[in-house]
Amino acid sequence: MKRIVLLLGSLLTVLCLQAETVYSPNGNVKVTFELSEKGEPTYTVWYKNKEVIKPSCMGLKLNMDDFTDGLKLIESKTSTFDETWEPVWGEVKSIRNHYNELVVTLEHIDWYQLDIRFRVYNDGVGFRYEPRSGRNTAFPLTYYEVFEENTEFRLTGNHTAFWIPGAYDSNEFAYETTLLSDIHALTCNGSGIGTNKIVGDKTIQSPVMLKSDDGLYINVFEAALVDYPAMMLDVDTQNGYCLTSHLVPGATHAVAYMQEPSATPWRTIIVSDKATDILASNMILNLNEPCAIENTDFIKPQKYIGIWWEMHVPNHSSWDYASISGVRLKDMDWQAVKPHGRHGATTENTKRYIDFAAKHGFDAVLVEGWNVGWEEWAGRWKEEVFDFVTPYPDFDLDAVSEYAKEKGVKLIMHHETSGSVTNYERRMDEAIALMKKYGYEAVKTGYVGKIIPRGEHHDGQWMVQHYQRVVEKMAQNKIMLNAHEPVRPTGLHRTYPNLLACEAARGNEFNAWSHGNPPEHETILPFTRLMGGPMDYTPGIFQQKMDYYQAGNPCQVHTTLAKQLALYVTMYSPLQMAADLPENYERFMDAFQFIKDVAVDWDDTQVLEAEPGDYITIARKAKNSDTWFVGAITDENSRTATIDLSFLDKGNYTATIYKDGKNAHWEKNPQSYQIETKKVKNTTVLKIKLAAGGGCAIKLEKK
Ligand code: NOJ
Ligand code: CA
Repeated sequence: MKRIVLLLGSLLTVLCLQAETVYSPNGNVKVTFELSEKGEPTYTVWYKNKEVIKPSCMGLKLNMDDFTDGLKLIESKTSTFDETWEPVWGEVKSIRNHYNELVVTLEHIDWYQLDIRFRVYNDGVGFRYEPRSGRNTAFPLTYYEVFEENTEFRLTGNHTAFWIPGAYDSNEFAYETTLLSDIHALTCNGSGIGTNKIVGDKTIQSPVMLKSDDGLYINVFEAALVDYPAMMLDVDTQNGYCLTSHLVPGATHAVAYMQEPSATPWRTIIVSDKATDILASNMILNLNEPCAIENTDFIKPQKYIGIWWEMHVPNHSSWDYASISGVRLKDMDWQAVKPHGRHGATTENTKRYIDFAAKHGFDAVLVEGWNVGWEEWAGRWKEEVFDFVTPYPDFDLDAVSEYAKEKGVKLIMHHETSGSVTNYERRMDEAIALMKKYGYEAVKTGYVGKIIPRGEHHDGQWMVQHYQRVVEKMAQNKIMLNAHEPVRPTGLHRTYPNLLACEAARGNEFNAWSHGNPPEHETILPFTRLMGGPMDYTPGIFQQKMDYYQAGNPCQVHTTLAKQLALYVTMYSPLQMAADLPENYERFMDAFQFIKDVAVDWDDTQVLEAEPGDYITIARKAKNSDTWFVGAITDENSRTATIDLSFLDKGNYTATIYKDGKNAHWEKNPQSYQIETKKVKNTTVLKIKLAAGGGCAIKLEKK
């Protein structure tokens, strides 16, 4: 009898279920899944009864099958999940992962099945595709190819979009702010790393941040990108306002090669009527798998300095050792080569940085240009440029490691691959063995230039797999990682917290040698690139104007000095660099104190004010401490930040306020600042004037 009832139950499911609805735990977000008469899957999203995503197509095209129509709904299940977890490091001490889940199982004849899994949170929705073999075992889906993904995000109007152009090899662009209908990606400026080909006029990168006329903030992105290409978005404004998934291709006809059991990354829509909620969202982290590293003791949030900015500013040091070309690693006798005298990574200079780090309490020193190969490094598809183990003759590894150890400072390794990734993979074991021998605990990797294997892209499946192999291998060897020029992050640091930070956007370095990052850049990054994880933005530049180094040089950092301080709070990262030269910090020791004091790991974060492209004010409570830090930044417009201190405990606090000077201005007077000390309480509301391109940084100590 029980069996008959069960059978009847599943039969009813087959006949009746053509639409399913699931709500977020608080009921604000509603998602409906529907299958049309032709068997086409679609979904719709609402926030507080307002449509956010109109009925939009879903599906995948595989070599074996086409999961876009002719599908039957054979089962649908709902469940609830509620758990609180503690990140190894982060913006808050604990994170609640609370969602309602809907899984619909679709079938094509009886050959293949596709589960679409929706997780609906109070701050948005994620869904992913999980193709698998069907009931007829004659046609297994053990190995298959993905030709195309057909995920649409049909928006309700001509929203304002904060976007960068779609490019398969780079995210290093300044953001554009336009209506969806005014997106013209081909008019954007390139990335400067030689691999910036823009895909087309109507293709943009995800994440994209959107604002609707009726006050909704919407972020479209992805979470848990592993073993799959990154998702760009094609923009169509001829037929409503639609974004469609555009996967980064590989060297061959398919965009991805998959094996069962398989799942795509999550497609994410974060939505709220408050911009501050978008920055406070943990949905992308929650959609990633829990920590896969058993013993995480080796992972330490940290501040570092480095032999780095001196190579980026004009007329200063260089990565390479000699003025020679036609250098092949294997036939060089470096001892016989005459140096040009501008090499940055010398033993002596490294010791100078180690001294500075030790004196001012920095954890580590990054040294770039220590290893042979930089004479030929600039990409262009060359093989075997670096070996990652041979120092230049003027860099004494034994001596600098010994010196660093004596001074209690760690060295950060640098592996610039110049895009020759196969070479790096071949040499990685040896490179790691060298790091272990000399006590390096962290590595900065780099992927400047075109990728080898030739034809692969920085953001395609092959490279996504490579970044994953590196993270895992470094974790096995208890090494922390900071990747430059990788695919943009999608929350994987929940699973692999040794991935402290990465670049994957236009960092501060662009200000040293290009037209730079406009003052609004740092007010957009947290709404876009940083949604997926921390960035090694390299803040703390006190000498903004490059004509200081080279007469007439027009480049400059597009912020005031005080805004550079505020970035340590507004641009969250557990790895923060004090990027300027030690000699520049010596000139502004009182302001430098903030960089020395600011924490890099937090028990709490409160986003006080935010508007993409305009301003951000954030307060954070340092880990295991009563001390709070506040950062407030603005774009090219001066404004008054309202900092309501009601997040403080009861009692008296001393606020040390680092703010723009009266006549400060990012362009005309960037180095003007004032430092003021004040007694405050949780009833205090500070009103602080931020200069054009300015900011303010505050330390709040219980006293
Ligand atoms: C680009 C990176 O972003 C930068 O930080 C690094 O100094 C150079 N490549 C050299 O590796
Ligand atoms: Ca603006």
